[in-house]
Amino acid sequence: MGTGRAVPDRVLTNAELEKMVDTTDEWITERTGIKERRIAAPDESLSDFALPAAERALESAGISGSEVDMVICATVSPDMSFPATSTLIQDRIGATGAAAFDLSAACTGFVYALGIAAQFLETGWARTALVVGGEVLSKITDWTDRNTCVLFGDGAGAVVLRAAEDDKRGVLGVAMHSDGSLGDLIYLPGGGSQHPQSESVLDQSLNFLKMKGNETFKIAVRSLAEVSDEVLSRNRLSHGEVDWFIPHQANRRIIDAVGQRLEIREGRTYVNIERYGNTSAASIPIALDELNRDGKISPGDVVLLSAFGSGLTWGAGLIRW
Ligand code: ACO
Repeated sequence: MGTGRAVPDRVLTNAELEKMVDTTDEWITERTGIKERRIAAPDESLSDFALPAAERALESAGISGSEVDMVICATVSPDMSFPATSTLIQDRIGATGAAAFDLSAACTGFVYALGIAAQFLETGWARTALVVGGEVLSKITDWTDRNTCVLFGDGAGAVVLRAAEDDKRGVLGVAMHSDGSLGDLIYLPGGGSQHPQSESVLDQSLNFLKMKGNETFKIAVRSLAEVSDEVLSRNRLSHGEVDWFIPHQANRRIIDAVGQRLEIREGRTYVNIERYGNTSAASIPIALDELNRDGKISPGDVVLLSAFGSGLTWGAGLIRW
């Protein structure tokens, strides 16, 4: 019914990163496609972006927060471990008594959350769902590690869903997968019950995200293509029928490789990684909101979303707009 987004005001360019770590604009642009990213101020947290994104989605849907009976916030960088950031959103939008929970599936979080919300609407167990994907990864990024700090950005995107009368439109299907044996490819070791915050966690930099980028890259291309195929074939749709392909924005080379494998029509893969970097769970809803507000998606369009991330997790969603 509606979409919204909110990102920090602060723009961090590749030129600025050149002064922070041993890197170049050329390397970052060529290897990732990223030119700049948005970074939260020290006193900003996830809810500073998740809440305005949610409010804009409600406004574009033309409904009030009191009509929402389910709030899901997909994130791995919540305001705090608990209570869930979604409960804060629930309270601030006035969704009195709504179910609210955070969902942890890293970059795949929005696709998972979309699938869960759609199922609740389908069964009638919820009537109106607000699904938010948001991250402030800058707070768990090691700004001295050039392998990771050039990649990520902050922000949030949101969508409002309501059970449709017309069953030809809406979320046609979602496929979700994981492989926990690959958990060490991207993870945050510190701050949980295994390594609670302590001097030693800080000394060993366990409070920062770790990633084996190169190994993740190869798996990402394969899993994104496979899961996209899965959701398309389940709905008896061909690659050529996709009007918009919105992949998770992790790396321009991954996006291009998957687009080619899927034979997505020319100009129909949405890319905004150059402006935001990898915003994890926020990347797909931010992209959806840009497309929607720019009037590029038309009613009836087939929109394919696919994402992968820490877990590893991966998934795809198919929407008839
Ligand atoms: N500037 C300059 N050189 C760099 C930088 C940098 N910022 N970062 C790494 N390098 C160097 C490396 O040190 C390495 O040098 P070496 O050969 O001397 O050791 C060289 O560049 C090549 O490194 P690779 O890791 O092989 O580079 P690659 O082409 O794979 O690109 C990247 C790295 C961009 C991380 C890529 O692998 C990638 O995007 N992977 C996927 C990441 C991802 O999508 N993760 C999942 C989502 S994250 C989540 O769920 C929260």
